[in-house]
Amino acid sequence: MIPPSIPTDIQVFRARMAVPREELDDLLDAMAIMDEAPGSWENVDTGEAWIEAFGIDEDELYERAREMADIAESVDGRIHVAQIEALAREDWTESWKKFFHIIHVTDKITIRPIWEEYEASEGELVVDIEPGMSFGTGIHPTTQSCLKFLEQLSSVGGMLDSKVIDMGCGSGILSIAAHKLGYSEVEGYDYDPAAVKVSKGNAEHNGLTNKIPFDVADVTAPEPLPRGNVVVANILAVVLIDAAKAIAASVDKSKGQHALILSGILENQYEDVKAAYLAEGFVEKQSIQIGEWKSGLFL
Ligand SMILES: C[S@@+](CC[C@H](N)C(=O)[O-])C[C@H]1O[C@@H](n2cnc3c(N)ncnc32)[C@H](O)[C@@H]1O
Repeated sequence: MIPPSIPTDIQVFRARMAVPREELDDLLDAMAIMDEAPGSWENVDTGEAWIEAFGIDEDELYERAREMADIAESVDGRIHVAQIEALAREDWTESWKKFFHIIHVTDKITIRPIWEEYEASEGELVVDIEPGMSFGTGIHPTTQSCLKFLEQLSSVGGMLDSKVIDMGCGSGILSIAAHKLGYSEVEGYDYDPAAVKVSKGNAEHNGLTNKIPFDVADVTAPEPLPRGNVVVANILAVVLIDAAKAIAASVDKSKGQHALILSGILENQYEDVKAAYLAEGFVEKQSIQIGEWKSGLFL
């Protein structure tokens, strides 16, 4: 994905595939399994629709374009071609904004890009996001699964008294949602200082300046990690396995109620991640699979 704040001197490429308007939703659903799922663009006047992906590495974008075309063919049996073109800055800035729309992750949680107008209905929880350079627009299945688990846990009696630790906070999306769900304390950490900065900016966009401490922490570092009763870690499987001891130790079990949400895991990696955490004394309570991404709730 190409964030809006990327410097002007970097060349951005767009892969664009024309698709029948009536097939757009099915095709996007099928493409949700891609590492970076593409977005879409529609011309409401002409009825034209495209599936689009962006990148700064032209070869890598060709690969993604080929994958988009293969997936589309597997859905409708037709040959599809995605054209790659180099964009001028003003083009891709607008394209990016068209790519990231309002997302209703659950009946309650909605993600709003800060440049889109939206009127929330009563009881709806809206998280305003400007993703900057960081992961976490709410489009990705791993983020969505974490949001679903956080919402589900929030309705368990007494669970809102928890301190939530968001490991690998990216844009801060999970921390902000957790705060809005009503968890009593929330802290977010990422090993990338840029993500910490973006998270702080997003807290501000949500009127939560200084309400959620965000800081740098590396789950693979030797120092003990900050602790909380609810820990959510949407990081790659290999990192979750590597850091299983440290992440497991970051779950404070002293209150009697605790939870660990693990995400960022491909379906075929899930059993290995699960085994690493069962070895640390956790039990699997539930899992959610969206596309090829599988996330788990452990107690
Ligand atoms: C898949 S993104 C998740 C972002 C956000 N929490 C979400 O759910 O959309 C993973 C995040 O973990 C961070 N990360 C990767 N390795 C890490 C590590 N060893 N320690 C801490 N954070 C890490 C990345 O910088 C990235 O922001």
